[in-house]
Amino acid sequence: MSSVTLFNPYLAKSRKCHVEIEIIDHKLGSIKEKSIKDAMKDRGFEAKSGQIFPVYDKDQDIKKIYAGISDASSYEDAGKIFNAAKGLFAESALKKTSFSIASKTLKKAALERLHIGWGLASYNFDRYKQNKNGEKPKLVIAKDQNTKRIQTYVEAVCLVRDLVNTPANDLGPEELEKAIKSFAKNHDLTVKTIKDKPLLEKKFPMIYAVGKGSARGPRLLEFTWGDTKNLKLTLVGKGVCFDTGGLDIKPSSAMLTMKKDMGGAAHVIGLSHLIMNLKLPVRLHVLIPAVENSISGDAYRPSDILQTRKGITVEVGNTDAEGRLILADTLTYACEKKPKMLIDFATLTGAARIALGFDLPGLFSNNEKTARKIQDLSASEDVQDPVWNLPLWKPYRKELDSHVADIRSSTGGSAGATAAALFLQEFMDKSVEWVHLDVYAWEQNGKPSRPKGGADTGMRAMYAFLEERFKK
Ligand code: BES
Ligand code: ZN
Ligand code: ZN
Repeated sequence: MSSVTLFNPYLAKSRKCHVEIEIIDHKLGSIKEKSIKDAMKDRGFEAKSGQIFPVYDKDQDIKKIYAGISDASSYEDAGKIFNAAKGLFAESALKKTSFSIASKTLKKAALERLHIGWGLASYNFDRYKQNKNGEKPKLVIAKDQNTKRIQTYVEAVCLVRDLVNTPANDLGPEELEKAIKSFAKNHDLTVKTIKDKPLLEKKFPMIYAVGKGSARGPRLLEFTWGDTKNLKLTLVGKGVCFDTGGLDIKPSSAMLTMKKDMGGAAHVIGLSHLIMNLKLPVRLHVLIPAVENSISGDAYRPSDILQTRKGITVEVGNTDAEGRLILADTLTYACEKKPKMLIDFATLTGAARIALGFDLPGLFSNNEKTARKIQDLSASEDVQDPVWNLPLWKPYRKELDSHVADIRSSTGGSAGATAAALFLQEFMDKSVEWVHLDVYAWEQNGKPSRPKGGADTGMRAMYAFLEERFKK
C-alpha cells in the first residue's frame, strides 16, 4: 500500500428511489398515523436498537422505514439499522436506492453519530478479494448536519482500518513512508524522512538498532502542520510494520496479528486527519518511527547495551520489547522542540490487554487531572470511545534498574503496561504534558459498525479532548 484513498460511503444527492429512515422512540410517541401505530403494535415492533419497520406504498415498494435505537444513540445502533435496511432490498434495488436518516426528537449530535455509524458500517476490507463484497445501502447526509465533520470522522477511522489491515508484505517501513507521504500530499504537506544508516545510527540509535535486523530499513517520518503561532501539539505513533519479537521470538499465535503493530502510527495518522480537516488551532508535529522487528544475523540481541539519543544507556531485556525503544528516541527528539503537549499511541504491551481486554486502551499521563478528564470524556454519551487510566506508579521504576547500563528495557515482572510507560517517561521532558495510550488497534469479534480487523481505539476520545482543550 503506497497511496491512501479516503473512504467515502455517502451520496451527494438522492437517487430516483429515496427512502427516509425515521428514528422513533420506544413508546412510538412521534407516530401520528393511527393505522401505522396499530400495525407496529400488532407486529410487536417496539423500536428497539436496530429494529426496523418498513412501510410500503400501493405498488409494494418501500416508501419509508421506521427504526429504533438505544437510549444513547450509538454507532452500533446505526450499524444494526444499516444491516437491517440492507436485508430488505435486493442488490439490484440497492443500486437505485438512496437513504436518509431523520428524527423528530433526536438532538443534532445524536443524529450525527447515526450518520457516522452508518458510514462505518459500510466499510469492509476486500482489497485482496476477487469477489468484492456486494452493493451497500447508500446514505445522503441530512441537510442540517455537518457533512465535513461526518465525512472526516469516517475517513479517519477507515484510514486506521486500512493501514492496519494491509498485510506486512505490502506495508513495510518504506511503504508506510509512501502511504504517509500520499496522505500528507492530500493535505499539501511534505514528509521529512530520516533513513540514512550512519545518520540514523548516530541520531536515533535505538530506531537503528531495532530496525537493523530487517532487510527493509528503519526510518523516522516527520511532518508539521498549522500556524506556528498556535500551541504546539506533538503526536507520536509506534510504527512497527511487523513484530516477530526478534530473537526472543513470539509464539505463532501471538505473531499472527502482528501486522497491526503499526497501529499506533495508524491512530496518529487518523487523528492528524481529524485535526487538520476540522482545523483545530494547533501547531501540529507528527513523528512516526517505522521499523520491522525481524530475525537475522544483523538483529539486535537480548543483553545488548544500546546508546540512545538522550545519552542514557539501555540494556535490552527482551527484543520483543522493541516498541518502547523506537518510541524513546522519538520522544527525546520530540521534547527537544518543547511542545505544549505530547500524545503517543502504541500497541505496546500484551499486559495492557490482560488488564483491560481488547476494547479499552490503557491511558497514562504525567498529569493526573488530564488523565481523569480524558477517561470521563471518553465514556460520555457524546464520545462513546472509552479509555481507562492506568498508573505511572513511580515505586515500580526500580524494577527497570540494570546492573550493567543506566536502565533496562523490560522487567519480565508484573505490571507490564506500567513498566513500559515508566520506561518511556525516562525519555520525556517533565515540562511537557504527556499522554500515552497503550492500544490494541484491532476488533477481535466484529460488531455492527466495526468489522473484525484493524480498528480505532481511543482516537476519537483524544480528538474530543483536544477539541475541548484547544478550540478557541
Ligand atoms: N507488540 C507487542 C505488544 C502487543 C502484544 C500488543 C499483543 C498487542 C497484543 C510488543 O512489542 C511486545 O511484544 N511486548 C512484550 C513486552 C515484553 C517482552 C516485556 C509483551 O507485552 O509481551
Ligand atoms: Zn514486540
Ligand atoms: Zn511490538
